[in-house]
This record gives sequence, C-alpha cells and structure tokens, in this order.
Amino acid sequence: MEKRAQWGTRVGFLLAAMGSAIGLGNIWRFPATAYENGGGAFFLPYLFALLTAGIPLLIMEYTIGHKYRGSAPKSLGRMRKGFEWIGWWQVAISFVISTYYAVIIAWAVLYAGYALNGAWGDDTTSFFGGDFLNATEPGVMGGMNMKVLIPLAIVWIITLTFLGMGVKKGIELANKIFIPTLVVLFLIIVVRALTLDGAVDGLQAFFQPNWDAIGDPAVWVAAYGQIFFSLSIAFAIMITYSSYLPKKSDITNNAFITGFANSSFELLAGIGVFAALGFMAMQTGQEVTDVVDGGIGLAFMVFPQIINEMPVLSGFFGFLFFASLVLAGLSSLISITETYVAGVQEKFNLSRGTAVAIGGGLSAVISLLYATKGGLFYLDTVDHFINSYGVALAGLFEVVAVAWFAKELKNLQAHANSLSDIMLGYWWRFCLSIITPVVLGYMLLQNLRVELM
Ligand code: PFF
Ligand code: NA
Repeated sequence: MEKRAQWGTRVGFLLAAMGSAIGLGNIWRFPATAYENGGGAFFLPYLFALLTAGIPLLIMEYTIGHKYRGSAPKSLGRMRKGFEWIGWWQVAISFVISTYYAVIIAWAVLYAGYALNGAWGDDTTSFFGGDFLNATEPGVMGGMNMKVLIPLAIVWIITLTFLGMGVKKGIELANKIFIPTLVVLFLIIVVRALTLDGAVDGLQAFFQPNWDAIGDPAVWVAAYGQIFFSLSIAFAIMITYSSYLPKKSDITNNAFITGFANSSFELLAGIGVFAALGFMAMQTGQEVTDVVDGGIGLAFMVFPQIINEMPVLSGFFGFLFFASLVLAGLSSLISITETYVAGVQEKFNLSRGTAVAIGGGLSAVISLLYATKGGLFYLDTVDHFINSYGVALAGLFEVVAVAWFAKELKNLQAHANSLSDIMLGYWWRFCLSIITPVVLGYMLLQNLRVELM
C-alpha cells in the first residue's frame, strides 16, 4: 500500500479548494440569481445561507475527509459500513456533470478565438444556435458538431494530464497556475466593465434592494441553492481534497477561507457582469432588466454582443473573458474528475494512472454526446435534473446520515476543534442536524412541485 498522497503546502490545498468552488457558477449563475431574487436584498438570505449551511457543511466535509482519509465513498464507508453508497451517489453526480462541463469549456475555448477574429458576427444569438452549434430539433442526434472535437480533446488532455501527475505535482500545480491567473484576468475585465458608459445603471439595477423578496420562501431556497452549488458541496469533491491534507491542518479555518474567497469572487463577478449589462442596455437603448441573462445565454449570446459594442480593444477583452471561463472551468473540472479517479482507484486498488485512464477515458467518450448537434438539448435536460434533484438529494443523504444515523457530529467536532483556534459548538451541530436537512428537504419538495405543475 503506497502512502497517501498529500498537498505540498496549505496554500496549495486552499487554491485547489477555491479552484473547485470558483467556477461557472460564480460567473454566470450568481449575478442573475441575485438579481432575480431581490437584488441588493438577496445578500441577506445569501449571507445567512453561507453561515448556516455553506461553511458548516464545508467544515463537515473537510473534517470527514481529513479524519477518514479517503475518497468520498471510502471515507463515508469508514464512518459507517452502510454509507459507502452515499459517496458513490455523489461521485456519480460529479461524473455526469464532468461530461457536459468539459463541453462548455470547449465552447469557451472556441469563443476565445472568435473574440479575436469576430467570427460570431452581428447577430450573436442566432450565431450560437445556428452556425456554431448547428443545433437540430430537440432529441435529434443529427451527427457531430465537428468544430468542438479538437477543443474538447484539448480540455480532456489537460485535465487528465494534471490528474495523472498526482495530487501535489498535478492538481496543486494546475491550481497554482490557473487561480492566480484567473483572478488577474478577471480583475482586468471588471475594471474595464466599470469604466464603460452605463456601468452605473447596471450596478444600480443589481444592488437595488427589493425588500419584499425577503418574505418569499423561494428567495431563501435560491440563496441556499446558490451556496450549495457554488461551494461544490455534496459533490464528493471537498471530502476527497481534504483527505490529502497533512495530519496537522486547521480545517475550520480553511473552510472559512474557502467560503469567503468564493463569495468574494461571486460578488466581483456580479459587479463585472452588471456593469457590462448596464453598458449594453445603454448602447441598445434598452432597460437593464431587458438584457439580464444567466447561464449559457449570458456567456455565449449576451457577452459576445457586449463585446461587439465595446469601443476599443474589444477583441482583447473578449478574449480575456472567455479565457477566464476556461480557467475557472478547468479547475472545477479537475476537481470533479478527481472524485471518481480517487473513488475508483481506492475501490479497485488501481494505480493513479490506470484510474485516470479508465475514469477520464469513459467521461471523455460520454462527453461526445453533448458535442452532437442535439447536444444542447441533452445538456439542458441533464443539467436540470442534476441541479433540481441530484445535488439536493446527495446533500440531504449525507447530512442526515452523518448527523442522525451515525450521530457523528460530536466526534467530528472534537476532531476539528483539536486542530483549530476556532471552536465549533452547539450552533455548528444545529446548522447541520436541523437547518440544512430542513432546507434541503423543502428545496426538493419545491422542485418536485414545480415539475408536477
Ligand atoms: N462550484 C462550482 C461553481 O460555482 O461554478 C461549480 C461546480 C464545480 C459544480 C464542480 C459542480 C462541481 F462538481
Ligand atoms: Na462557486
């Protein structure tokens, strides 16, 4: 049995955890979610969710990985025999996400090039569905979208190469390069966005508080949902990453740093995106409300249009934007892929190289499905089910199993407290045993109700 791999430095671990957390969710999910759920008033439920569920769960996952020293299935199985499947459920979700995450990154690679040569033309919306995706009717395979294949291969080669090089020499190295670069590029974009005409209108729209929203349960569900997704909680990632921490590590402190770093990046993205939207509204004579968008639409239809409108060096700033998406995406893709590499490696006693080849190879092949002409339809469908049920269920299983069935919270608390100056107490256990399960249960019921209506 070889010795368990370890991070080289504390900063290395933190960068990897932040690399996983900071992703497309920060850039294209948070701004629109905040805007639609109360604008400036959203920060209240959001902060509440961060403090009552996000950081407590992060501490719990870090402690589980650190105490039981294994991938998610291994660690949960060591806690209690019957819990291994919860880890596999989380790994399965990560596997599915990785297959389409890779395709989105591949699109961003192509769009970084289009920013420079202007290939998306004047009508960026019809370009995306038309010339770019060649999208066919929903559900019709209609052959491959050939132009995606090479960037997709590059995305997988980069991801699997870093994973194959190991925890310290691969994952840590990748994040040490990607995350500082991402922060610098993104800061440049945000400063540019803030200096565009109309930026103030965008910010005003973003921060304008709608206090009535606070009374709406849906807004609270949105806040918790954003926090879970954004902190990469219940994806098996944080358990796996913390299992590589040295024995003496201040887990609790690490969780606070990860949580606040992720939220800071989220806020930064909100400011940048809305400044840019304010500019676009002004250029096109619309209201900010009319141009707000999130997700794929924001990145691949609205942003190219904003870039078209920009006065100077627009190609350069467009390139930086899509390069940021690529960096944020790659560091998240590495983290989700590591969950099944580590899981399979430990389960079947494989070498890391073999586990990377099998796990990565399989997901790379499956990702081809989304590179077909009907791919966007599959992507939307799968993404919807993963986000509405998969993750919430995974989080609920995990927290109920750990807090109620294994009654493990006091043990984890003692473990974390022995390593930190920040003492966990009754409140931490209350957040995990009561608040989190209630919120996740409610979230699931709500999603189900919307589905059936
Ligand atoms: N936490 C990442 C984000 O906010 O973009 C997204 C993410 C990463 C989701 C990894 C899922 C995942 F497995
Ligand atoms: Na995030």
